[in-house]
Amino acid sequence: MAILEVSDLKQHFYIQPGLLAKIVSKKKPSVIKAVDGMTFSLEPGEIMGLAGESGCGKSTACLAIAKLREPTSGTIRYNGNDISQMSSGELKEYRQQVQLIFQDPYESLNPRFKVFDTVAEPLRALDIGNKEQRQKRVLETLRLVGLRPDEYLERYPHQMSGGERQRVGIAAALVLEPKLVIADEPLSMLDVSIRAGILDLIRDLSERMNFTCIYVSHDLSILSNISERLMIMYLGRMMELAPTKEVITDPLHPYAKALIAAVAIPDPSYKRPVPDIRGEVSQPIDPPPGCRFQTRCKQVMDVCRTLEPPLKEVKPDHFVACYLY
Ligand SMILES: Nc1ncnc2c1ncn2[C@@H]1O[C@H](COP(=O)(O)OP(=O)(O)O)[C@@H](O)[C@H]1O
Ligand SMILES: [Mg+2]
Repeated sequence: MAILEVSDLKQHFYIQPGLLAKIVSKKKPSVIKAVDGMTFSLEPGEIMGLAGESGCGKSTACLAIAKLREPTSGTIRYNGNDISQMSSGELKEYRQQVQLIFQDPYESLNPRFKVFDTVAEPLRALDIGNKEQRQKRVLETLRLVGLRPDEYLERYPHQMSGGERQRVGIAAALVLEPKLVIADEPLSMLDVSIRAGILDLIRDLSERMNFTCIYVSHDLSILSNISERLMIMYLGRMMELAPTKEVITDPLHPYAKALIAAVAIPDPSYKRPVPDIRGEVSQPIDPPPGCRFQTRCKQVMDVCRTLEPPLKEVKPDHFVACYLY
């Protein structure tokens, strides 16, 4: 059975116009369709990559799935249970089993907490174990993420490097032994030189602890490395979802093709295709009818300007939202 089933998830934000605009031009509130109809499911142990340009709704989707924000509509089922209908006991279990690793390890750590307190806090908040048991679990988890407890337990965030801080953030997420980990661009704030180490750590831990993972990144070379399936989003919409290898070697959506064409491939004989993309990324504010990608797509057709293309399974396990297929 799927561990997570997300169906038609939407998160819309309403922006009120200024008072003057409201009176003079009778302007209506704008709507930002940050996530606009996301549907997928995850099998236990799977790593799914989530890709797309900045502002396409990746973090918004993560927050809704982690139940840190109520979605506008849609359902999220965890082991078959609708997370909006959970009893307080089920919710406590959900808070334990589903964890987020944040993008910015500086912002996500409390500057006044020592490493021990940061990693012990989730156990304390969910009232798990007694003092000794918590201490033991914190030490084990720190070793797991490659931090020697005697050296790090008493440190504050400002006494560590970005990579060390992110390891602490990962420890705080993993101390609860989660079943589903949502890693929201965990490398993007780190120096290039230490990214590989943290990426290896997450991959290694996902195997050892056997958690399911949604790994968010705008970097396709990372995702092709870590994920088994890959979802590509554009302005709140899912454009393509398929096994990673297939998306990388045979992308179908014009947007996916353009993204893949822009990825560095370490082979000098490789002839880079010319990205088939034009214009600039727009915003998901009051989107016009039709496909979100229409203004940038070279293969745009009349139907793309009027009807939003639904996500269609065009090959087994290969979904794409495009009228070309
Ligand atoms: N709390 C909010 N209020 C209004 N707009 C928001 C809020 N959070 C995110 N947005 C908007 O939603 C869109 C998606 O944002 P986000 O999920 O952070 O994208 P990503 O993580 O892919 O970079 C952006 O246009 C962003 O400005
Ligand atoms: Mg984000």
